[in-house]
Amino acid sequence: MRRTTPRSGRLPTGRVPSPSDYGCGVNSVPPSPAVPPVAISRTPAVPEAPPRRSRLTHGFLVANLVGQVLIVVTGGAVRLTGSGLGCSTWPQCEPGSFTPAFHEQLSIHPYVEFGNRLVSIVLTVIALVVAARVGLDRSRSRSFRLLGLVPLLGVLAQAVIGGLSVLGGLHPALVGFHLLASMALIAGSTVLLDRYTSGDGPAHLVVNTRVLAMGRALAVAAAVVLTLGVVVTGSGPHSGDDDTGYRFAFDPFEMAKVHAAAVWVFVALIIGLLVATRRSGPPRLRRRLWALTVVTAAQGLIGYVQVFTGLPEVLVGAHMLGAALLTVTTTFVYLGLRERA
Ligand code: HEM
Repeated sequence: MRRTTPRSGRLPTGRVPSPSDYGCGVNSVPPSPAVPPVAISRTPAVPEAPPRRSRLTHGFLVANLVGQVLIVVTGGAVRLTGSGLGCSTWPQCEPGSFTPAFHEQLSIHPYVEFGNRLVSIVLTVIALVVAARVGLDRSRSRSFRLLGLVPLLGVLAQAVIGGLSVLGGLHPALVGFHLLASMALIAGSTVLLDRYTSGDGPAHLVVNTRVLAMGRALAVAAAVVLTLGVVVTGSGPHSGDDDTGYRFAFDPFEMAKVHAAAVWVFVALIIGLLVATRRSGPPRLRRRLWALTVVTAAQGLIGYVQVFTGLPEVLVGAHMLGAALLTVTTTFVYLGLRERA
């Protein structure tokens, strides 16, 4: 069949494409000029002038997303090296001092914990800049400007949750909640970056309802996989500090099987989406789906190898990085189901 839609996903007239323009699936119908596309968002007052783009703001939004992913890894290093209580209190490291007090028997732990706190300070500065640059940009819609506050509010909330984890003796429920909150923040930062590069008009579906349903199921499956992963960790040897006896009362190996089963549902949905969009799906969505496929394959491989090699710390750390990247790519896929003018 001859391609009628340019690769950019935009139509020659500047009109936003509808599912039928891509001929996705059995529900495709010819576009009717009498029926305007269905608006998904209720974005108020769209500014008349086209939104301005600044490379500096874009750079900070990318830095924010990279930082949100990195702090998952540095936070993982804290847990995996057993440095969670390396600083005995919070926000100070030791009573009366924000930095580790040097002495001959000092171990690596206070430095790992202190290093993680430093990364969070850099992230806070980036989040402040993002809030100022996005929040005060009058050329953009109100909904987008409010979105600019997400990294700052998230980082502040994470500082409190991280502090509560330390004060709560690294109970796995608190540590797990801290990780899941980071994943939510990564998803929010991805939305912010995606919105910055798109317009402020209402969002229009660019897939049919079957693909939309699969996309939604994919997002839910990702949340289930991440939550089950946290439960596996909380039941196993890396749940927190070595000296802490708290564990979820589950067999970690059995929980890993449940976690992996959810991953296979997630994989089935990716395959379903790839098949459903293979002939004439939006090119942007196709690219994002392939990126997600690569990340999921690598993450699944790490998952199985770590189980069969006795959970070495370096692989568990790589698995955390993979979970963060999977959150980014899944969010991009979900956002790729719609376009904004
Ligand atoms: C492909 C998608 C996957 C995602 C998004 C994912 C995500 C996660 C997450 C978020 C955690 C918790 C990390 C932490 O709290 O430190 C975790 C832990 C874990 N995952 Fe996965 N996982 C995936 C695949 C797999 C597979 C296929 C296996 C194989 C059975 C697996 C085995 C494990 C194990 C054993 C843990 C606990 C590691 C530890 O002791 O800390 N994962 N996973």
